[in-house]
Amino acid sequence: MKIEIVTIFPEIIENYLKFGIVNKAIKNSLVEIKVHNLRDYTNDIHKRVDDYAYGGSPGMVMKAEPLIKAVEDISIPFAKVILTSPKGKMFNIDLANELKDHDQLIMICGRYRGVDQRFIDKCVDLEISIGNFILSGGELPTLIMTESIVRLIPGVLNSKDNLNRDSFSDGCYEEELYTRPQVVRGIKVPEVLLSGNHSKISQWEKSRRKKIKEEKICK
Ligand SMILES: C[S@@+](CC[C@H](N)C(=O)[O-])C[C@H]1O[C@@H](n2cnc3c(N)ncnc32)[C@H](O)[C@@H]1O
Repeated sequence: MKIEIVTIFPEIIENYLKFGIVNKAIKNSLVEIKVHNLRDYTNDIHKRVDDYAYGGSPGMVMKAEPLIKAVEDISIPFAKVILTSPKGKMFNIDLANELKDHDQLIMICGRYRGVDQRFIDKCVDLEISIGNFILSGGELPTLIMTESIVRLIPGVLNSKDNLNRDSFSDGCYEEELYTRPQVVRGIKVPEVLLSGNHSKISQWEKSRRKKIKEEKICK
């Protein structure tokens, strides 16, 4: 799978990709991630990617032409073009699962007040929001989506980071976790986890998951 990210701040994306599970997945050729500087698709001397909004309202808008050129240059047949947008479809694990099956995702990082509507109408397949709040740009949403999608690609997580135990993997939430030492500031690890009795431990984990789900701690 290939993820192509179009941004005016390539360094933000490139630096993040140097670390962790996504970096390992790139090194193991489980995913290819390319970062494209939108300014490379401008044709004026100042490499301008934004301009004033028609209609007199304040703030700058991302120009359509450089974005269209970028998508035309990058896309292969059946590419899925995604625009980060607070008014888009809400991102979640089901959407991540759906997106991981595409051969090529092109993610466009919006900036300023947003993007010229003509680019959206011509090129964008899906607008995605990562939550009901406003960020200054689409770089963080893009990284969040990328990491979440890459984690779902077969072979990316090893048994230690077991995918099936993660929250949301089967409609459940991960149980409570403890590590050494056994006592921290007088607070002990639940006795059952030290018992070595796997059936009891699994029963305990199930009951904790159920409780977390009922209390919707993760929601
Ligand atoms: C300052 S925001 C623009 C917000 C826009 N004026 C609005 O009110 O919907 C700039 C860009 O950041 C990205 N962005 C901001 N918040 C986001 C969110 N919650 N989810 C996805 N993208 C977001 C989008 O690409 C957006 O175009």
